[in-house]
Amino acid sequence: MPMTSLISDSVKSLTFHRIRVMTIQIAPSILSADFCNLERDLKAISNADLVHVDVMDHHFVPNLTLGEPIVARICQVTDLPVDVHLMIEDPDRWAPEYARLGAASVSFHMGATHAPVRLARQLRDMGCKACFAVRPAEPVEPIFDILDEFDMILIMTVEPGFGGQKFLDNQMAKVRRLRDEITRRGLDTRIQVDGGVSPKTAHIVAEAGADVLVAGSAVYGAENPAEAIDSIRDKAEAAFKA
Ligand code: DX5
Ligand code: ZN
Repeated sequence: MPMTSLISDSVKSLTFHRIRVMTIQIAPSILSADFCNLERDLKAISNADLVHVDVMDHHFVPNLTLGEPIVARICQVTDLPVDVHLMIEDPDRWAPEYARLGAASVSFHMGATHAPVRLARQLRDMGCKACFAVRPAEPVEPIFDILDEFDMILIMTVEPGFGGQKFLDNQMAKVRRLRDEITRRGLDTRIQVDGGVSPKTAHIVAEAGADVLVAGSAVYGAENPAEAIDSIRDKAEAAFKA
């Protein structure tokens, strides 16, 4: 077999491998679901990849949602991996509780944690993915030196606290810098974006390099949540650049 053909086969298989690993994931946020019909609303998103659960404490953000007892029930009734987004003070104290309850991943905020590396290692030791979240005014560069401690970095594309806010496209430069760093170092860290993601903005975040898209109002505000998920996925897959 000629050398050129060998090289091109190996490039194809590497490319195939990378595409398989870096698939887009859609994570509907139940913040926009009907809290009196949570089980019904969880069933409505069975074509999603994750279910995103926003835990807020009235202190880190000016809103209050739900905590451990409800997350425990969600983990019991859904077949989807549960992605807990902690918008609370002192995640160093509380994050492991959510891992213990069955969360597949737990995100905690740069602006709230005291010892992110210790906490990430603790979560990973418990079999839970560790994710670091940054707000719009926070830079991503301080994470670069500890990037391999995390499975996912969450770039907020709204100020955290509420669903239905306008997408901040000024966060895309941050997503691009993070994607470049992940690619340069050959890591498989995922980039999650959260806030204002919809079929209209999905291509923007995916083109910048995000591969986990959280969407609350765009999914639960739609007449058919499953169709909204498919639509966001289609738009993102068409634009994604790893
Ligand atoms: C906001 C939450 C989001 C929220 C997103 O602080 O972290 O997960 O549900 O809602 P949408 O998709 O409506 O912007
Ligand atoms: Zn969230």
